[in-house]
Amino acid sequence: MSSLLTAPARAPRWRRPIKQRSRVERRSGPPHTRVSFSHPSELEFARFLDFYRIRWAYEPVAFPLGWEDGRVTEMFTPDFYLPEHDLYVELTTMKQSLVTPKHRKLRRLRELYPEVKIRLLHRRDYEQLLAQAGYAHADLDHLRASQVERILVSPLELETRVRSLARRISRDYAGRSLILVGMLKGVTFFLADLARQLTVPLAIDYLGVSRYARDHPSGARRVAVQRDLDHPIRGRDVLLVEDVVNTGLTLDYVLGVLRDRGPASLEVVTLLDRPSRRIAEVRPRYVGFQVPNDYVVGYGLDYRERYRNLPFICALHPSVYAQDAGGEEGTPEGRRLVALGDR
Ligand code: PRP
Repeated sequence: MSSLLTAPARAPRWRRPIKQRSRVERRSGPPHTRVSFSHPSELEFARFLDFYRIRWAYEPVAFPLGWEDGRVTEMFTPDFYLPEHDLYVELTTMKQSLVTPKHRKLRRLRELYPEVKIRLLHRRDYEQLLAQAGYAHADLDHLRASQVERILVSPLELETRVRSLARRISRDYAGRSLILVGMLKGVTFFLADLARQLTVPLAIDYLGVSRYARDHPSGARRVAVQRDLDHPIRGRDVLLVEDVVNTGLTLDYVLGVLRDRGPASLEVVTLLDRPSRRIAEVRPRYVGFQVPNDYVVGYGLDYRERYRNLPFICALHPSVYAQDAGGEEGTPEGRRLVALGDR
């Protein structure tokens, strides 16, 4: 944001945005509840931004547009600034009487401040904004908005975190080469994105496991290798890539299997971690995000093989899995699924 607040080198000293008084009224609660907005549509937009985890500031600066005798005579204060997209947004209504002067002000602003990105936004443009924020085709039509409890990690947050994990791992393994072992299948997108950001030489292999319910007739062995690695790992540096660690029982079992094969080192990177559900004592070396005990899908994680391709991670509304269990939410079956909450 600081670069935005700086006028271009050749601009006169007085041609620079002026910081506005903060409109934050409360310190807690979701961001859209902390600010006093001038118009209900602004509150609605802020709520929309919060839902999609797009960061924003309300009326942070005003741009002087006209001067007389060295004094500012006209200003323009865009409604929102989205720092992740370096974009100012001015909301608009259908009222032509209001739209025309706004267009004029915007033209003037673009002339005077060509480096500033600003958009006049009507409600129907929200979809475009989502596309810009990395939600692309995620119009949620195969997952109705009402089925999403909340978005936990946005596409941009995923991108940023994966990049920083890759930086750390590349630093830790500098001068060595790695075997990335991906745990099928939830790891698909995380592994693909992480591997492309790593700067050390690497090979990729996959491991598939099956899991039994604790009361399955097969007895105590809850996890079994179903699809084994293609290559030996003896003497190699192995990094196991997981999408989520819950109880840690899967990881504990897999680490045991891999350790027996004599790797030079064996560490774990997991995109998501739920330490609150831990039963086995496993500690992944690299963690993307800690998540609550909701049923989460997207970016590789599924619910009955669906929703893996969502570009963000969201918590499903409990009614989704309660209904799919063939019972109402609150029935023993529904409750059992909720309690399992493996995702
Ligand atoms: C997930 C995940 C882990 C496991 C973690 O797999 O990939 O392997 O659950 O749970 P735990 O810590 O309680 O053992 P899932 O069965 O959902 O398979 P998938 O990756 O193919 O979707």
